[in-house]
Amino acid sequence: MGCSRKIEDLMAHSSWIRKMFEEGANMKTDGRGPVYDFSLGNPEIEPPEALKQRLAELAASDTPGMHRYMPNAGYEFVRRSIADYLKEETGLSFTAESVIMSVGAGGGLNAALKALLDPGDKVVCFRPYFVEYEFYVDNHGGKLVKLPTDDSFLPDLDAFEQAIDEKTRVVLTNSPNNPTGVVYEQELLDEIGGILKKKSKDNASPVYWLSDEPYRNLIYDADRAPSIFKAYDSSIMVTSHSKDLALPGERIGYIGISPNAEDSGKLFDAMTFTNRILGFVNAPALLQRLVAPLQGMTVDLGWYKRKRDLLYKELIRYGYEVNKPDGAFYMFPKAPSGDDIEFVKKLQQRRVLVVPGTGFGAPGYFRISYCVNDDVVKGALPAFRQVLED
Ligand SMILES: Cc1ncc(COP(=O)(O)O)c(C=O)c1O
Repeated sequence: MGCSRKIEDLMAHSSWIRKMFEEGANMKTDGRGPVYDFSLGNPEIEPPEALKQRLAELAASDTPGMHRYMPNAGYEFVRRSIADYLKEETGLSFTAESVIMSVGAGGGLNAALKALLDPGDKVVCFRPYFVEYEFYVDNHGGKLVKLPTDDSFLPDLDAFEQAIDEKTRVVLTNSPNNPTGVVYEQELLDEIGGILKKKSKDNASPVYWLSDEPYRNLIYDADRAPSIFKAYDSSIMVTSHSKDLALPGERIGYIGISPNAEDSGKLFDAMTFTNRILGFVNAPALLQRLVAPLQGMTVDLGWYKRKRDLLYKELIRYGYEVNKPDGAFYMFPKAPSGDDIEFVKKLQQRRVLVVPGTGFGAPGYFRISYCVNDDVVKGALPAFRQVLED
């Protein structure tokens, strides 16, 4: 026995996304024609030119000390510039002590959860949910509670209110959402905030709202994402530039703690510490310098919108049931037969790779990740139609 039984077990149930990716990799070399791969959230668009230029300048700089350790939370000037951006966005008094630079959103979520959870504490989320939450929460001894959503994938607030008890320490939301593309409006955030306020009072201890927002700048028909910071005081936002600047391999993001959060100073110290002891130590130095002045910059949203519009129009025309996504780059149609795994296999036989909703805790649906080139979308459309006709 090489690894622990626990990890062996977790790996066996690890991820449909990876499974589809691996099957796709095999298909791509089988010599039987093109594969239309919508399985990963790995943008095929390149980062903006301005970013590449800045990166080249930074890499060429001979300023001494640029590659050394810095405070575990990240460079003070970088955190201050992000704090200014958040201040401008929310009107709240963010400072450098509200921001911790992280190794992507994944690193930030782990640092935050480790700082917040005691063994057995509950973390509440809504189905469908990003599959890694299960592992991240388990990493820190927590228990993930998954709550229902309605036909539009919006939270069932009655179930939410009932589910929060004295063991609930964190509410974990994700908007714009992976896998549905749903964006929570400010009104909904305010309602969630109202419930959390009441529950924190009942518990005589804050329920922290952890908002996972790597897609916060990928919204199609509005300027900026509605803000949890305006909806609830004890709120923490985790984001990254994996998606908005198309840098997922570079691993750069940050945690933003509301200046109004209960014990915000303690949270900053704790998450700086957990970032260190989880082995991240600090976020990559060069990447911190790179993104500091690029807050609010995104890749060309039109590149995504074009694909969303084409896919949505055609899938509806073929007879699929699907919500039009408002953000991110995912679509989550109903599997017409009801059996998502069987349907995904049928698409796979036609060389189209998508991920079954089962992998996101929502059987009966499938996820299309359309962060791919136009020819992949266009090439796959006949298969989406034919598989319905079969
Ligand atoms: C909802 C969600 N959260 C977190 C992450 C992790 O992002 P990062 O690459 O910034 O770690 C992803 C990546 O796909 C995601 O979809």
